[in-house]
Amino acid sequence: MGWLKIYCRVFQFILNWGAKFLPWQKAVPVEGAGAILKIPELLRSCRVQKVMVVLDAGLLKAGIGRRVTEILDQEGLPYVQFSGVEANPTVGIVEAVRELYLREGCGGILALGGGSVMDAAKAAGARVVRPRRSLQQMAGLFKVGKKLPPLIAVPTTSGTGSETTIAALVTDPATHHKYAIMDLRLIPRYAVLDPDLVEGLPPGITAATGMDALTHAVEAYLCRSYNTPESIRDALDAVGLIFENLERAYRNGRDREARQAMMLASYKAGFAFTRSGVGNVHAIAHTLGGLYNTPHGLANAVILPAVLEDYGRGVYKKLARLAEVSRTAPEGASEEGKARAFIAAIYALNERMGIPRRFDFIREEDIPQMSRWAFRESNPLYPVPVIYNEARFRRVIESLRTGRQKRAE
Ligand SMILES: [Fe+2]
Repeated sequence: MGWLKIYCRVFQFILNWGAKFLPWQKAVPVEGAGAILKIPELLRSCRVQKVMVVLDAGLLKAGIGRRVTEILDQEGLPYVQFSGVEANPTVGIVEAVRELYLREGCGGILALGGGSVMDAAKAAGARVVRPRRSLQQMAGLFKVGKKLPPLIAVPTTSGTGSETTIAALVTDPATHHKYAIMDLRLIPRYAVLDPDLVEGLPPGITAATGMDALTHAVEAYLCRSYNTPESIRDALDAVGLIFENLERAYRNGRDREARQAMMLASYKAGFAFTRSGVGNVHAIAHTLGGLYNTPHGLANAVILPAVLEDYGRGVYKKLARLAEVSRTAPEGASEEGKARAFIAAIYALNERMGIPRRFDFIREEDIPQMSRWAFRESNPLYPVPVIYNEARFRRVIESLRTGRQKRAE
C-alpha cells in the first residue's frame, strides 16, 4: 500500500499543478420555468443551421421531446431526432448517433435527457470530430483534444450533472466494462435548467438521481486535490440544497421550488466534481452499472454511506462540515459525532425514499473483476481521501452484497 499511495499522490500532485493552467469553463446556465423557450436563440447564437436532438424512447413517449421540437418548429429551425438512447449507452448507440448526425448534415447537438443521453451525445460529438479515434482510444483524460460541435444540454433529471461536466461514460457491450472519456471539450456550451421538464419524474428516479448529485458533491468535497475555492463552495451549496429539497421533490414532484433547487444542486455538484473528481463510490458504482445495469444514482445512493463509514476517522473533519451545511447534526456535537450523524442522515434519507441498504444481486464470483475495474478507475486519478487497493475494494463490495460492514482499521 505504501508505494501505491506514493505513486497516486505524486500523480495527483502533478495533475493538480497542470490543471491550474487549463481553460476550465462552466456550461452557461439558462435557468427557470420556461427556459426551454430560449433554445432556438441559443442555437442561433452558436450558428447552428440544423440540430440533432438526442433523447430516449421514454422521453419521446412522455411527450417531452415534442415540447422541445414544437419550439424548434415554431422558430423554423430544422432538426433531426434520435430517440434510441438506452441506459448505460454502448459504443453501438454512440456510433448510431454519429452516423445519423453526419448523414443529416447537422451542425450541433441538443441533448435532452438524463445522464445516458448526455453521455451518448457527448461521445458522439467526440467521434464526429475524431473520426479516426475509437471511443476506447479516447477513454481517459484529455484524449479528444478537438472542439466539439455546439452542444446544448437540457437535463430532464436532476442528478447527473453531465450538463456541465467533462465526462462521457460509455459501456463496451462485449465486456460490460463502463469507461469514461474525460476532456474539457466535452463540456456543453449551455445548460438549460427548466424545472418544468422534471415535474413528471417518478419519485424513484427523483430519489436516485438526487442521490447521484449528493454523491458528486460529497466525493468532490472529500477530494484531497484539484479543487478550487469555487468548486468547494459549489459542493457545499449542493449538499445544503439537496438535504433541503430532495425529499420535498420526492414527495411532491410538482413542488416547483424544490425541483428548481434540485436542478441547481445537480449543476453545482456537477461543476464541483468535474473540477475535483469523484472517488471510490463512483468507481464501484460504474462496475454495477456495467455488469448489472444498476441505475447509476441508485448504485451511488447505496454505496455512498458504506464507503464513508469505511473511510473512518480520516474524513471526520470534512464530514462534520457537511453535517453543518446540511443541518443533520445536533449543535455542539463533537467532530466525530457530527460525521457519524451525517452518515446516519444519508442512510435515513435513503430509507425514507425506499432505497435499499444493500445489493444482494451482486454475484460473489464477479467481485474480483469489479474490484479490479474499480481499482483501475480510482487510481491514480481520483484524489480520494483513502486510497483503496484491490483487497479493500473487494471487502467493501462484499459488504454491499451482504449488508455487513467489516472494519479494517
Ligand atoms: Fe455520478
